[in-house]
Amino acid sequence: MSALFPVVVRDVMPEGVDCIRLRLAAAPGQGTLPRFAPGAHVDVLTPSGLVRQYSLCGDVDDPGVYELCIKREAASRGGSDSLCRMVDKGMELHISPPRNAFALPVAQHYVLIAGGIGITPLLSMMARLQRQGADWTLYYYTRTPDQAPFRGRLLVAPYVNRVHMARSLKQGYPAALAHPEADTAIMLCGPNGFMQAVSSHAIAAGWEPEQIHTEYFCPTEAAPDDEEQAFEVILARSGRSLTVPPGQSIADALMAAGIEVNLSCEQGMCGACVVPLLAGEGAHRDMVMTEEEQACSIALCCSRARTPSLTLDL
Ligand code: FES
Repeated sequence: MSALFPVVVRDVMPEGVDCIRLRLAAAPGQGTLPRFAPGAHVDVLTPSGLVRQYSLCGDVDDPGVYELCIKREAASRGGSDSLCRMVDKGMELHISPPRNAFALPVAQHYVLIAGGIGITPLLSMMARLQRQGADWTLYYYTRTPDQAPFRGRLLVAPYVNRVHMARSLKQGYPAALAHPEADTAIMLCGPNGFMQAVSSHAIAAGWEPEQIHTEYFCPTEAAPDDEEQAFEVILARSGRSLTVPPGQSIADALMAAGIEVNLSCEQGMCGACVVPLLAGEGAHRDMVMTEEEQACSIALCCSRARTPSLTLDL
């Protein structure tokens, strides 16, 4: 996990029917909060002791405050739920510096697509794109549009004419997906099934996979373990090599050899453990990188090898 630092909860507010919004400020004596770019997230050490990742949904140009939105998850292991139940104004929390595995690429047009709480990383993108005078559209799918998180903010925003809300994909896929366009980036975030449905629809309509940028909140199903083989990892900077046996991650093998690894979600979702891949072909199981990025990088917490060895820039 990245080093955590203290922040103070400045405000706790309800957001929609089942979310809370936190405003966090630097703790006394801690200086200013690190700057972040649209799409970034932070790790939060929740009162339950579990670390969870949350997108920064506030204004990237307001360095004084971080905003997070947390959904109550009755079926979760308790991290988000403990925040919703126990966090209070004035309380100290510990968070990581911002990390960005969902950065806005350079494009002529942007199609932003959110399912439910997947709206959070898109909020800072909208503000930035609007300020830049970019051409963008938001499609926001939520089961309860009248009580959806950030509905109030969206309805009074100067860009409300760019926002389309619907209850579900049964009402139709985003109209902008019907006609693939070069120089357009699709930014997609929401539940796994929603994202897979939208991605499949877009690719069937003729969009290139590299145009679809995603951020997942929970892991997709991993590849079956019974296909795992041992492989060698070579560390280019020291020349050391070690074996990664079946059932062990590259990260575990490195740490067992006394090598420090930056870990956070350990599920291929956050990008904390991604390192440059110099040689060999990865069997990628992360959900943060595009295919292009996976050709030259690998997530140590979850991915394995398609070749007998991998050479890492470590
Ligand atoms: S630790 Fe989050 S992707 Fe590996």
